[in-house]
Amino acid sequence: MSASHPLPLRPEAQHLVDRLLAEMTLDEKIGQMTQPEKNSVRPGDVARLSLGSVLSGGGGNPDPNTPHSWREMVSAFQEEALASRLGIPLLYGVDAVHGHNNVVGATIFPHNIGLGATRNPDLVRRIGRATALEVAATNVRWTFAPAVSLPQDVRWGRSYEGYGQDPEVVSPLAVALIEGLRGEAWNAPTSVLPSVKHFVADGATAYGTSQRVNRATLEVDRTLAIAQMGESLVELVEQGAWQIDQGDSFIDEATLRAVHLPPYQAAIKAGALNVMVSYSAWQGVKLHGHRALITDVLKGELGFGGFVVSDWAGVDQIHPDDYDRSVIDSINAGVDMVMVPFNAERFIAALRGGVESGEVSVERVDDAVRRILTAKAALGLFGRPQTDSALLDTVGCEAHRDLAREAVRESLVLLKNDGGALPLPRTGELLVVGEAADDIGAQCGGWTITWMGGRGETTSGTSILTGLRAELGGERVQYSADASGESHFPVAVAVIAEEPYAEGMGDRAELHLSTEQLRLLERARKRCDRLVVVLLSGRPMIVTEPLAHWDTFVAAWLPGSEGRGVAEVLCGAHPFKGRLSFDWPRSRGDLPRTPTAQHLWTAGEGLTAVLGDAVST
Ligand code: GLC
Repeated sequence: MSASHPLPLRPEAQHLVDRLLAEMTLDEKIGQMTQPEKNSVRPGDVARLSLGSVLSGGGGNPDPNTPHSWREMVSAFQEEALASRLGIPLLYGVDAVHGHNNVVGATIFPHNIGLGATRNPDLVRRIGRATALEVAATNVRWTFAPAVSLPQDVRWGRSYEGYGQDPEVVSPLAVALIEGLRGEAWNAPTSVLPSVKHFVADGATAYGTSQRVNRATLEVDRTLAIAQMGESLVELVEQGAWQIDQGDSFIDEATLRAVHLPPYQAAIKAGALNVMVSYSAWQGVKLHGHRALITDVLKGELGFGGFVVSDWAGVDQIHPDDYDRSVIDSINAGVDMVMVPFNAERFIAALRGGVESGEVSVERVDDAVRRILTAKAALGLFGRPQTDSALLDTVGCEAHRDLAREAVRESLVLLKNDGGALPLPRTGELLVVGEAADDIGAQCGGWTITWMGGRGETTSGTSILTGLRAELGGERVQYSADASGESHFPVAVAVIAEEPYAEGMGDRAELHLSTEQLRLLERARKRCDRLVVVLLSGRPMIVTEPLAHWDTFVAAWLPGSEGRGVAEVLCGAHPFKGRLSFDWPRSRGDLPRTPTAQHLWTAGEGLTAVLGDAVST
């Protein structure tokens, strides 16, 4: 028995859902539960299969990758859906996890780990609203965000998708994003459906338990091929890639309920209408087949009346050798829509077979379809399936970039500031070193333009170097990517960065700085009186040894397209306000985070200096 819907529809909308459900054939119902990725959908499929949704996975972009071509692509799918027998509108989904990040020219906001350091729900709410406008501009009304992961082992490549390690920090920010994406009402023209993910305890998996990649054969399946890692996959797997992500978690139920469940309770209370299931397992049972957690806890105990979507081919992992059994078990566990993503008709046939054999009840299918249609009705899709193209003017607009810069400024955490290197002097020359000082791709990290992200000018924005030159005057800022040279400076700013990654591709056994990074810092050290180190990373890194040689250390996380925000704070135009939302391990032995782990700094720390008179908290 499903819970009552927390957002009762207006009577006419409820009547529409009831009428459609009564008229739909079994195949039309199953079509609504089917979500292929856009490159696997042939012309005519949406109408022929009555598809309920299509998605762009990370990097699932049109060519050319422009806001206009995104809008054209999504609108074409929608037109097909409206031409189907019952004309049920399509719900197109994307990972707009830090802005509409697949789209070149969109505003890229700091990843969640940086927003967690702001502890500012109002800021995150405004980011949600700005993101919704840019997403709706492309006719998309569903984003697979917020992640409410609570990463317990920062060797996990998805650590940066978490706001923090404490539900007291995560829940208010997740609710704020949901409220921002919703705007004035779910059925308002620019509301965007959030997907609260990944249910549940995705951040609790243990190192070494992931089975996502066969480490002997290193077989690259169709999904991993999208990452386009080529030969580097071998090197990354040796460094620990795919050791944690999608693994198994062994926490007890009390910990699951106390730490990992609260953000879902808060999100449901805020009216969330979609939850995405985690790839991971809990005590050996894959979440995608976990009826007790999905149906009994999420839908029953927590009263979730929205719909549950699987993760990308997450269903397949339940029984890797028996797809049909996997489909039956996932739907019976409470999954309502399946992110297939490649072969819609194989999924449809498997579920049809399950219903015809009686292994999946018609009532379960009807419950799933009712949840999906109710969410579409709540979004006002039936009355207004297309958004206003005038919204395209909001994509990457100055107001949104100003908001992103504000978020960057508030996300920075000052962890060391000896010797008064900050604020950067507004007289004399400044040396800036590190390729990452002038690299928007390094600032953005994964989930940017492509799934894994990438170095270089991948989209528009301002680098940290550009920002410093704007703040101090270009002639005063000397840049040397490799810190080579002999001249000496009062102050040097060294920017180092993790290589962009996403998901398990970013799992690592070690979190030390690379030899190349340490050598760059050594060269910079010799050329200045005061050394300011800025780290662009998706997580705390092990910096205990080299820290002694740095006068100032700033954690900048993955700030996104507006690197000028970093420069504004380094130059004292704005104060440091950020505070860690993650514990910072002293050594590898302090991973995963346990009560006995030693930390260099703990969550909550950060020197909030109104620069010029550093006041540490
Ligand atoms: C990915 C991620 C999920 C994302 C989905 C669609 O594998 O696990 O967070 O929303 O697939 O891209």
